[in-house]
Amino acid sequence: MRIPQEIIEEIKYRCDIVDVVSSYVTLKRAGSNMNGLCPFHSEKSPSFTVFPGERNFYCFGCGAGGDVITFVMKAENLDYRGALEFLAKRAGITIPQNDERDDGIKKNRILDMNRDAAKYFHGMLNTQAGSPGMEYLLSRGLSMATIKHFGLGYAPNDFGATVSYLKGKGYTDEEMKVGFLCGISQKSGRPYDYFRNRVMFPIIDVTGNVIAFGGRVLDDSKPKYLNTSDTPAFKKSRNLFALNFAKKSCAEQMILCEGYMDVIALHAAGFTNAVATLGTAITPEQARIMKRYTKSVIISYDSDAAGQNAADKAFKLLGEVGLETRILRMDGAKDPDEYIKKFGALKFKSVLEGAGSRMDFKYNAIISKYDLTLDDDKIKAAGELAEVLAGVYSEVERDIYIRNVAAKLDIPAERLRMDVDRIMRRNKRVEKKNESTAAMRAAEGWGDRINTDFIKNPRAARAEESILGMLQLRPELIRTACGGEVLKEDDFFTEFGKRAFRVISANIESGAAPDNFAEHFNIDESGRLITMKINRSQLTENGEGVYCECVAALRDAGKQKTMNIEDILSKKRRTTNE
Ligand code: UTP
Ligand code: MN
Repeated sequence: MRIPQEIIEEIKYRCDIVDVVSSYVTLKRAGSNMNGLCPFHSEKSPSFTVFPGERNFYCFGCGAGGDVITFVMKAENLDYRGALEFLAKRAGITIPQNDERDDGIKKNRILDMNRDAAKYFHGMLNTQAGSPGMEYLLSRGLSMATIKHFGLGYAPNDFGATVSYLKGKGYTDEEMKVGFLCGISQKSGRPYDYFRNRVMFPIIDVTGNVIAFGGRVLDDSKPKYLNTSDTPAFKKSRNLFALNFAKKSCAEQMILCEGYMDVIALHAAGFTNAVATLGTAITPEQARIMKRYTKSVIISYDSDAAGQNAADKAFKLLGEVGLETRILRMDGAKDPDEYIKKFGALKFKSVLEGAGSRMDFKYNAIISKYDLTLDDDKIKAAGELAEVLAGVYSEVERDIYIRNVAAKLDIPAERLRMDVDRIMRRNKRVEKKNESTAAMRAAEGWGDRINTDFIKNPRAARAEESILGMLQLRPELIRTACGGEVLKEDDFFTEFGKRAFRVISANIESGAAPDNFAEHFNIDESGRLITMKINRSQLTENGEGVYCECVAALRDAGKQKTMNIEDILSKKRRTTNE
């Protein structure tokens, strides 16, 4: 049976690529990336790079690359499914063994059972056996009122307590299994409690049903949270934690967080318009739901690299459904929960009010690394910012940003503009040079092992690479009608390009990450595809313009006569004669 897409996404989400790779390679930080010696070829200086934000790796030495699944396939010598099972086990995720979830078990039975379970877990807090749970919640600074408001609870440290309680209430093993409140022992065939020794967060839908649970360990063991997987009564991609409360106060603005504890801390501090996704990255369905309840969203994710990257992705998704979106920047705390504890609700409110646009956010991230009262730092910041600005495609937009940034740095905009222009000229030169090297290689008939058609029409192939890179970064571009028509497989020239486009569009269609390559490409091929993305990672808000330029170039190049080997050889001869 195929593993459901949402389980694959969850596995990828939970198995942090840096964590996984670190079990095989000693990684050192290099800017926002991590470096180490490549485990797939022998080398003395590190060219193996992990991009934590992108959740990819790439070896600049041997061209191997991909995501955490590709990595495990190669490192453990497993096939695609084997790698998924390996990672699922590591993350404590159960891969459903068959499709029999809908085998007649009624949604209402599960909802009733969940409500009973929630009451049981909540009641446990006041018992001897539940005291570790109560102590934990209090130690996290929650008041009794908050614990009650959210119906928090504790699943006892026992393999049979919850099951026997629910049995006593008349629920069958099958119902408990389908509802993810028990597992079934492989040895004895008997049910055992799914949540053990965890504080429990009931997930309640807007109509007040208890649809699922999240359960947190009391210490640092892993997995930190266990969540109910999808059941006949619950689809995690269509629900948001605390929307049942937030719906009353979110008409103007909603705060989107990563974690249950963030939401609870925010509500307790008076920000009752906070919600969170349920242990996964935000889905298009969740974005559409939010659109029904609010006009604007403030993304308030963790301040680490992974959180910020997720924020970027959420920003795009929310923008696509027409929500006005801003990203919050917190300094000095890793998440909103910690921030409020450290600095208080008032300070958080002022940060909320100052949340800026995505570009602002990028610039502030750079500026905050420097002390602008020092000349040296100011010069460094200006240099770094000029690099980013030089990547802004639209002239109008660039002009606005240049003036903004100059004001922030307190330097004349014209000075900054000169630097930006200089960098743009340099980038163009480098690009030209790369192009001519590629053309030379093609003309010389250098074999391209991966894209064997490259040589036949390098101009088309290069346009393809740009497009495929952009689609990985900005999947929504696939719907852009360039020159009146969206891009089609037939527009592609090379077989490799066609195949890559097929996979990327299927991924986008199914809501998967566009760079889900592990199932369809080997590690060298996916490495090639990841390079395309890396090469494009400077994309700005004006990706659409660039994208259409590349599409036009591809269509145009596709019309040209393709070079056969004779042409290539004669071109080579000419080059050598010159
Ligand atoms: P975090 O690791 O940021 O946890 O995961 P947190 O919310 O700050 O939790 P505390 O403060 O340590 O208690 C963010 C969210 O990702 C999901 C959960 O929904 C969590 O709230 N997650 C995280 C899981 O589903 N499983 C995990 O193992 C870890
Ligand atoms: Mn936290």
